[in-house]
Amino acid sequence: MLGAARLHRIMPFRCLVIGRFTLKRTHNCNVLNKDDIGSTVILNGWVHRRRDHGGLIFIDLRDRYGLTQIVFNPELYPYSHEMAGDLRVEYVIAVTGLIVERPSGTINESIATGHIELLVQELQILSESKTPPFYINEQQDVDESLRLRYRYLDLRRDKQRDNIILRHRVVKFMRDFLDTAEFVEVETPILVKSTPEGARDFLVPSRLRPGQFYALPQSPQQMKQLLMIAGLDRYFQIARAFRDEDPRADRVIEHTQLDIEMSFVEESDVMGLIENLYLKIVAEFSDMSVVNDGIPQLSYEDAMDRYGTDRPDLRFGLELIDLTDICSATGFRAFDETTASDGIIKAVVAPGCSGYSRKQTDVFIEEARNNGAKGAITVARYEGQYNSSLQKFIDDDVFNKIVERLRLEDGDLALIVADEVRVTNAALDGIRRKVADQLELRSPDEIAFCWIKDFPLLDKVEGQDRLTFSHNPFCGIRPGDETLLEVDPLCAKSRQYDLVCNGSEVGGGSIRITNEGLQRRIFELLGYSEDEIEHNFGSMLQAFDFGVPPHGGIAMGIDRLLMILCRTDNIREVVAFPKTQDGQDLAQAAPSAVTESQLAELHIRIVDKESGN
Ligand code: AMO
Repeated sequence: MLGAARLHRIMPFRCLVIGRFTLKRTHNCNVLNKDDIGSTVILNGWVHRRRDHGGLIFIDLRDRYGLTQIVFNPELYPYSHEMAGDLRVEYVIAVTGLIVERPSGTINESIATGHIELLVQELQILSESKTPPFYINEQQDVDESLRLRYRYLDLRRDKQRDNIILRHRVVKFMRDFLDTAEFVEVETPILVKSTPEGARDFLVPSRLRPGQFYALPQSPQQMKQLLMIAGLDRYFQIARAFRDEDPRADRVIEHTQLDIEMSFVEESDVMGLIENLYLKIVAEFSDMSVVNDGIPQLSYEDAMDRYGTDRPDLRFGLELIDLTDICSATGFRAFDETTASDGIIKAVVAPGCSGYSRKQTDVFIEEARNNGAKGAITVARYEGQYNSSLQKFIDDDVFNKIVERLRLEDGDLALIVADEVRVTNAALDGIRRKVADQLELRSPDEIAFCWIKDFPLLDKVEGQDRLTFSHNPFCGIRPGDETLLEVDPLCAKSRQYDLVCNGSEVGGGSIRITNEGLQRRIFELLGYSEDEIEHNFGSMLQAFDFGVPPHGGIAMGIDRLLMILCRTDNIREVVAFPKTQDGQDLAQAAPSAVTESQLAELHIRIVDKESGN
């Protein structure tokens, strides 16, 4: 036993409870109301706010569920009142007392407990708190790195806590839905083999096998296919996926997928399942309205032509208009050079923007430049007249054809981009989104889903003469396109389907290749040698020898879905302990250096890049 004097030295706070915690709550802070008047209750929680009013001390007591006002009266309970004088925000306390009606004029209709207060008889201080580095009782803007460093305090705030609780509820809904549909949840390993799946791997050195490494999974892709070969038939997992790439607003190095695989299915089975699940989730967890009945499907080509992107935001129109056919051989160098080198000329019309100032128009032109274009040419129409620098460079009849195709009305502003296909589309996709923002067409209350299909199976590696996969190397080939692999592989289409929501790719999957010969051929086309195929995919290919059901699946980005449901543009808002843009966990200060002996055990030596030592 500690002597009293020693105890005082360790715990100099006279009223801190250090023995058994006896005042265990009888209620949460959100439930008490008029029906409870006259009952004696115990509440536990954090001091959210305090006010001293001529003798009376009022505290808003907070827990995860809500707030209850508690009051200390010096005349009725002088000892508790005196102790309450020490209370500061974020102290953790336990109180017991009588529920009384609030005097008229002090009723707070905005909280569930606003008609009553707890008249405190006994107070126990369970833990003290320093002054927090930011206000927890106000939803004010706080520097993100400070919030992440003190994430446990940040998560005490309403919005942040609600996001995490919503995440839990959505994931539980997914689990229940899939369980009812006979899916089996299987945990796949976190330490896996490093294989080329698109992004850079996070590597983990093996102590027992010096010089060898595990990788953290970029996705459980191969494992879930093996589970289909194992006959599990319907698999799902709330799976962590790790990709060592540069984070962006909607991309993190460690994300969570709802990962699914199904046997004996075609595209419509997987897509139908997800459509059903996602429309239910939106109806259950948001008050947003879904644009369109069901989920429309667009081919990749159609999406690129009409929106310049394979993740179009369909909450608004503003479709792109192709002008290439009428803009070749115009004598205008920018157009002629573009068409001569197989580029394209396309436009987007910003309704009602013809009166925009130079500065406002520059926002659009800057967007084109940010996406690699040299700029954008404008055509404005007021009172039946056109105003454009183009008129100086091209004949009237070509100009007339252009404006006719653009169908400009008075007040409209068209922005035209001429460049290589990829750049023109990217620039106009960017401008289209900017125009929509300016015109407030991206309604925060609407959800527009679409499926994108018929992607090219393969793609060219930029600046190199070799092929890569558009999605992943296991993606099936559109029936009939197998022969194209030998003659024109870039024209072969895949059996991939991506789900897009409000301009964000929220999921993607495919019907897989299940034929060993075809799978090998794909690896060869991707440039792998026999040895590399064996090394990277040998065990998967071997499994193909033992009875493979036709199968396919999908992985849904849970973080991105939550961003939409929580109406935030920042993915870190929906993750309990997110990494910063440069990959740091500020709450834990990771990554961090490790000891020499840890490195020695792993047979690893840190080499200085400059000196080589
Ligand atoms: P994919 O790589 O398309 O497919 O990933 C599936 C979905 O996961 C989300 N996502 C991300 N979210 C946040 N940060 C990231 N860095 C990130 N990367 C992906 C997206 C994406 O649509 N194995 C395949 C799926 C399959 O074919 O079954 C895969 O992982 O919403």
